[in-house]
Amino acid sequence: MSTQTKVRKAIFPAAGFGTRFLPATKSIPKEMLALVDKPIIQYGVEEALAAGCDQIVIVTGRGKSAIEDHFDVSYELECTLEKRGKTDLLAVSRQVSHMVRLSYVRQKEAMGLGHAVLMARDLVGDEPFAVILPDDVIDAKVPCLKQMMDVFEQVQSSIVATQVVEGPAISAYGVLDGKPVAGNPKLFDVSGLVEKPKPADAPSKNAIIGRYILTPKIFDLLEHTPLGAGGELQLTDGIKGLLQTEKVYGYSFEGVRHDAGDKFGMLKATVEFALKREDLGPAFRDYLKTLKL
Ligand code: G1P
Repeated sequence: MSTQTKVRKAIFPAAGFGTRFLPATKSIPKEMLALVDKPIIQYGVEEALAAGCDQIVIVTGRGKSAIEDHFDVSYELECTLEKRGKTDLLAVSRQVSHMVRLSYVRQKEAMGLGHAVLMARDLVGDEPFAVILPDDVIDAKVPCLKQMMDVFEQVQSSIVATQVVEGPAISAYGVLDGKPVAGNPKLFDVSGLVEKPKPADAPSKNAIIGRYILTPKIFDLLEHTPLGAGGELQLTDGIKGLLQTEKVYGYSFEGVRHDAGDKFGMLKATVEFALKREDLGPAFRDYLKTLKL
């Protein structure tokens, strides 16, 4: 692997259609749906920054320009807010546009997560990098990717975030096979991975959650990985290829993961995030108590 040991770049695959959220996502990218008052992709970008990344690569597709606009300077908006003396809101808007260096690359065909990651190859180069799936919003004291960076510093190998999923729901995930590392029950030495297995074929209950740190070798592997589950180029299959030559670890992170790309997941996340907010939480809690459930 390369000698570059610091993870500086994070890839955000954001080219999917968001069909689980139709009709809201017919003209709005699902990554721009608001969780309380912030687009879900911004939670991921803030997590990447908090983990020490300083370059964000967003893999977009047609109809996704709202993402670029969101992280750009909005001259008209800022001018108007300035004229009206709305300094608080001006700061909120500027904070987003001055957040980080972003690059965009297009995934022209919906060929899967592995293909999306491959699109970022030229922008990442020969160094380890992170992947954040924006649908997976993780609420954690120490940001999930930061937890993984700390592990990466020790192991210098690819790491995928994992969480236990009970029952047939496991079929919606990539699933790890592996053994806990002696002395560190949060870390798994991965021996195999399967994308979206039938419940009976799942090698364990350890599902892959949308946070990865990967070595650049994955790009060569993805170039030659055959299409897998759903007829798509699966990142999980590429990572399986890594196992031939490198160690891969599963990391059971501390925190709560919300699937904000799913209606029910988004509703739960909205309630939990709103209750935690200083400005909204107390009134929202009082309101919820009045509901006769
Ligand atoms: C993707 C990955 C899968 C992973 C999941 C986590 O699936 O392919 O391995 O478990 O994200 O959210 P998707 O949800 O895009 O179908």
